[in-house]
Amino acid sequence: MSTDAIVMLREGHKEIRRLIHSYRAERDAQVIEPFLRALTVYTYIEREGMYPRVGVLVPETEPDILGFAEEHHIADVLAAELYEMRRDAVAFDAKARLLMDIVERHMDAEDQRWFPRVRAAVGRKELQEIGAWMATLAECAPQHPRRPSSQMVWDTVAA
Ligand SMILES: [Fe+2]
Repeated sequence: MSTDAIVMLREGHKEIRRLIHSYRAERDAQVIEPFLRALTVYTYIEREGMYPRVGVLVPETEPDILGFAEEHHIADVLAAELYEMRRDAVAFDAKARLLMDIVERHMDAEDQRWFPRVRAAVGRKELQEIGAWMATLAECAPQHPRRPSSQMVWDTVAA
């Protein structure tokens, strides 16, 4: 298995997209469990492994990274609410669909805009090291969403 960081994250996106399509086609609440697990693991390895390293290596993409991290934060809030919600709750489907729309938009932006920029700026060896670190992180990643703190870490740091 490749440990190239971008290949790994694209594979994560593919799995999440497959689960989104499956939910949209069948409205089957059973799909929510594997969807939230895949989303939680992907979010963890990208946020802990990819964003900090690429922020240092390609500082000009930092505004993108801050935007992506905020999108993950909003997705975390919705994912945690969905995880705690009864599957037959009135708002369950609306919340699931909104979360999936946000996640899909986020993945589109990374796939189409950000990954190509990172690929062009970061060497193959470096991307494989990040990938290997993300594979390690995946082994200890949380398996379901948790309510995030209300602020991102950098919100508390004065500019
Ligand atoms: Fe992401």
